[in-house]
Amino acid sequence: MTLAKWLDFQALGDERGSLVALEQGTSIPFEIKRIYYIYHTEKDISRGYHAHKELKQVAICVSGSCRITLDNGFVREDVFMDNPTKGLLIDSLLWREMHDFSAGCILLVLASDHYKESDYIRDYSCFTAKVNNT
Ligand code: TYD
Repeated sequence: MTLAKWLDFQALGDERGSLVALEQGTSIPFEIKRIYYIYHTEKDISRGYHAHKELKQVAICVSGSCRITLDNGFVREDVFMDNPTKGLLIDSLLWREMHDFSAGCILLVLASDHYKESDYIRDYSCFTAKVNNT
């Protein structure tokens, strides 16, 4: 079983460079209600350390590289992000951590809902309790 679900985007490149277009319903499997991006991350900083109760997200490393750790409460998996034509689908109830941001890394995130702090699970033991139904 693999936790990482990848979406492959078509690169519409020509001699001038590359372009990727994302459309809700075709390339992205949910209604996009929010877009945010993580950039200017300081050296040796890790982020994330949470899961979402309902939110679905697609993360795309549009520049540079980083490593994302996914954890479903039973298995942990590391994925290396450095390809702007690949989206990592991060479903609800998946713990995520982001590490090893390169200089200039830009991580673009498409989200299925607006920002709601009440949708976050920020405590790892609460997360494992929830996925174990305890
Ligand atoms: P957070 O999701 O905790 O960051 P990360 O998972 O990358 O470590 O968000 C950091 C702060 O920004 C937190 O105070 C919530 C706020 N925030 C918003 O207000 N809107 C947003 O869309 C996001 C993603 C975060």
